Amino acid sequence: MKIAIIGTGYVGLATGACLAEVGHQVICIDNDEPKIKRLRYGKIPIYEPGLEEVVHRNVSAHRLSFSTSVEEGVDTAEVIFIAVPTPPQTDGGVDLTYIERVAREIAYVLKGYRVIVDKSTVPVKTGEKVADTIRRYNRTGADFDVVSNPEFLREGCAVSDLMKPDRIVIGCDSERALAAMKEVYAPFTAPIIVTDINSAELIKHAANSFLALKISYINAVSAICEATGADIQKVAEGIGADKRIGRSFLSAGLGYGGSCFPKDVAAFISISEEIGEPFALLKEVQRINQSQRTRFLRKLRDTLWVLKEKRIAVWGLTFKADTDDVRNSVAVDLVNDLIREGAQVTAYDPKGNEKVRELNLCPGLRLADSALIAVQDAEALVVATEWPDFAAIDFAEVYRRMHTAIVFDGRNLLDADAIRNLGFQFYSIGRPQPKANGNGYSGLVSPIKFATSSKNAGEKLRQEVSRESR
Ligand code: UGA
Repeated sequence: MKIAIIGTGYVGLATGACLAEVGHQVICIDNDEPKIKRLRYGKIPIYEPGLEEVVHRNVSAHRLSFSTSVEEGVDTAEVIFIAVPTPPQTDGGVDLTYIERVAREIAYVLKGYRVIVDKSTVPVKTGEKVADTIRRYNRTGADFDVVSNPEFLREGCAVSDLMKPDRIVIGCDSERALAAMKEVYAPFTAPIIVTDINSAELIKHAANSFLALKISYINAVSAICEATGADIQKVAEGIGADKRIGRSFLSAGLGYGGSCFPKDVAAFISISEEIGEPFALLKEVQRINQSQRTRFLRKLRDTLWVLKEKRIAVWGLTFKADTDDVRNSVAVDLVNDLIREGAQVTAYDPKGNEKVRELNLCPGLRLADSALIAVQDAEALVVATEWPDFAAIDFAEVYRRMHTAIVFDGRNLLDADAIRNLGFQFYSIGRPQPKANGNGYSGLVSPIKFATSSKNAGEKLRQEVSRESR
């Protein structure tokens, strides 16, 4: 089938590449000429595991091509996906400028029947407006149908989410368009849920808001765990084992970030207010998300006392692991909080350094080329993003390099016992703190204990001169 994708961002590029992978003929269109030029040379503008290979394979097989011309796409394709950004406005509403512009551009060049599919995340009733716009600007009276087909891929696993989706939602009100959409998705095994357009649009906002709610729920419980000495990991395991609840999205941490959840929760609140059905629960979701970072900072202050002039290493800048995306990243916000308080922050991220530098997101931040360089002489280490790489680092070496062996794990990524056994003072989210005692955690570092399980770390350290404090 011939398919055009207008908008070659995360969703557009990954969707186009995966639809080509299953055998469709796909043309990806973007008005960013340098980006299209780079894509034609095989350069992928984002880091997304597996995407580069899929793009290269399908370009070589002549199933995937790139263009700046909407007309070329509309002329050649039977189904046209709109996958342009829908950025947030300052009041939480959604800026639909790009969607409206693409609808007009399609209308100008539409000559015969086409299925126009909205893949961007949009407020309910946008499909109706897209159809009205195309009708208003098209001079040929061409027939078309508008479909809503929300995307549920996660950054960092976009290719696998696209190739093996949980479900495919198709919102449409025409048999002809539905038949075309079923042909697009024929190579996939996922169940297809057919709805009207408004319901499909709502499904996307409701799904993302529910996932954000789940995260805020567990984060609120983590605060109660901290106050009572309970362990959030065990609590999450206990409630997540109930099939009706499920364990996923119950990992407590610094809160959710990224280009989707914060924007979509705000948009859903704004939509609900606009239609006179305010969704107060989601305001609480936002409040809890914000307070996770504030509580974490308090923990740093309680331990380090004054943050001014403290050398703090931060591991992680991206909004989550396996991406280079630093937009709306809680890690970036946290770094800026620390810098504002006068701390000297050195950060390292396996994929995010470049983007933070390029976008100048953290003025005053020093970027290190490795996790170990970042901790050199640091008075505290903060883990801000859940990169699995960080858990595999030799903490005996980290201990040697740090000035003061204190770790704040904002993502509950590290093995608390193994780290403590190496002599670190260790704090995390919603997990019990050992009681301070004479030799324990009341000083800057506890006496070195040797971990038996952590990659010979104990053995290496045994050869070191024991340090009471540094
Ligand atoms: C999210 C949804 O998961 C996708 O289904 C959706 O298609 C996408 O938004 C979108 O609207 O385009 P994404 O933003 O890529 O995907 O990232 P998630 O994996 O959902 O993580 C979002 C944030 O929640 C991250 O900051 C992550 O660290 C945080 N998180 C996630 C937690 O704090 N705890 C968890 O248990 C899970």
